[in-house]
Amino acid sequence: MTKQNIFDTKLDNPGERVHCVHMIKKAVYPGSFDPITNGHVDIIRRGLEIFDQILVSVLENPKKKSLFSTKERVAMIQEIFAENENVEVRSFHGLLVDFANTNESKMIIRGLRAISDFEYEFQMALMNRKLDPEIETLFMMPSLNYSFLSSRLVKEVSMLGGCLEGLVPGEVEDKLREKYKTTPKTNSI
Ligand code: PNS
Repeated sequence: MTKQNIFDTKLDNPGERVHCVHMIKKAVYPGSFDPITNGHVDIIRRGLEIFDQILVSVLENPKKKSLFSTKERVAMIQEIFAENENVEVRSFHGLLVDFANTNESKMIIRGLRAISDFEYEFQMALMNRKLDPEIETLFMMPSLNYSFLSSRLVKEVSMLGGCLEGLVPGEVEDKLREKYKTTPKTNSI
């Protein structure tokens, strides 16, 4: 089933159908991405199966202490998806719904790893709906391989010199090693 006819089955007013198809073309995928992990990459790839374009939206929050600057976080994601013209990367500040509207998107993608994510995600999704009822949040589950993965743990493992194999893209591993001045390790059994 193509992206278009998923919606054809639900709507009988042609004008409405065109509007609906237009709305779901681009999705924003917001986050701190400090740094992007293979779990995030997995969600973006899954998102591309549904949407024509994913706008990875990197939160610029001077109040939140991050390891990588906004510029570095954006640059890393751009490098990872350099070959994929359907992935755009931009930073944003202020309300996410405003950013989505400015970029003509009515859809927010968020990854859900485990039940522990649910409460925070539920609150955000409903707050965003309150702020703009036209914007929908779509939750996607990453591969089971990444369901334990978080940027916070990746930073901790890297800082303590642990193995990052399979956790982050190579570009990110290099940048983490530079930040923490650690040397690459392989998994020991
Ligand atoms: O990767 P994170 O840190 O879980 O991402 C959180 C993010 C960026 C999605 C969230 O903090 C956000 O949307 N911030 C923008 C501010 C906003 O719109 N707040 C009101 C709705 S919750």
